[in-house]
Amino acid sequence: MADQDGIQDTQKYFVDIPMASEPFTLRGSNSRDWGFKNRLSNIFHHETGKTVMLAIDHGYFLGPTAGLERVDLTIVPLLPYADTLMCTRGILRSTIPPTFTKGIVLRSSGGPSILKELSNEEIAVDIEDAVRLNVAAMAVQVFIGGEHETKSVHNMTRLVDIGNRYGIPVMGVTAVGKDMVRDAKYMRLAARICAELGAAYVKTYYVAEGFDTVTASCPVPIVIAGGKKLPEQDALKMAYRAVQQGAAGVDMGRNIFQSEAPAAMIQAVGKVVHENRNPEEAYDVYRTLKSETK
Ligand code: 5RP
Repeated sequence: MADQDGIQDTQKYFVDIPMASEPFTLRGSNSRDWGFKNRLSNIFHHETGKTVMLAIDHGYFLGPTAGLERVDLTIVPLLPYADTLMCTRGILRSTIPPTFTKGIVLRSSGGPSILKELSNEEIAVDIEDAVRLNVAAMAVQVFIGGEHETKSVHNMTRLVDIGNRYGIPVMGVTAVGKDMVRDAKYMRLAARICAELGAAYVKTYYVAEGFDTVTASCPVPIVIAGGKKLPEQDALKMAYRAVQQGAAGVDMGRNIFQSEAPAAMIQAVGKVVHENRNPEEAYDVYRTLKSETK
């Protein structure tokens, strides 16, 4: 208990200075509770409002994906350059050092492997475990137009309800089936459904035509997946165009960890996302860093 003998008169009221009340500027999130916003701030950088999420959750249906065979050797060295890591709880517990204090986005749906119908997912984590792991958000796949569309949407809405109870945001991950057209019309539909049903933010793919209409019509932030491995310059162009057209960053996997120089690539992506560097400048950064690491 504080020593009562030493109590001083209170004087510092600064009565002429109104108390600051900062708005929370992340798109669509101002009316959320403190813990929820604090977690989002562990994903989206408070100055730029954007994020470089490193996605390494592919093993949840693909097994040991190229570039992720040894997460300890290939991914852990990249952590200092990521704003957030998206992974499964298996990889988190077994391989990611608990000294990593940035946001973890936990893969929270799963079930079928690449050998089966992928849209047939279930919720794959208990909220108590997400809390125990101190995650910044939970990620759930949503298969709009897919065979198990309703079930996957229901997975998301259930996670949103549970997450809201504990102040944990949900990222809706729009999964485009093989036989669907990956265009702005589809992305608008899928992203908007995720947002309407409570996702705090949404992951889509970048589309060359009309991506700005996807971000404009989605009331919460959109991050883009990288998709299949592209030449580094093309991946940087895609990230640049997405951010210039309203994306709040990337949730990029293969284009980073399958790059010839993953540490150089993730830093170059950071230049595009946080510093608005154009793809040519960012590619120069990539080449310089790549040559330094040889
Ligand atoms: C898997 C995912 C991946 O995290 C997502 O596709 C990002 O990885 P990549 O940039 O390699 O596409 O959600 O379902």
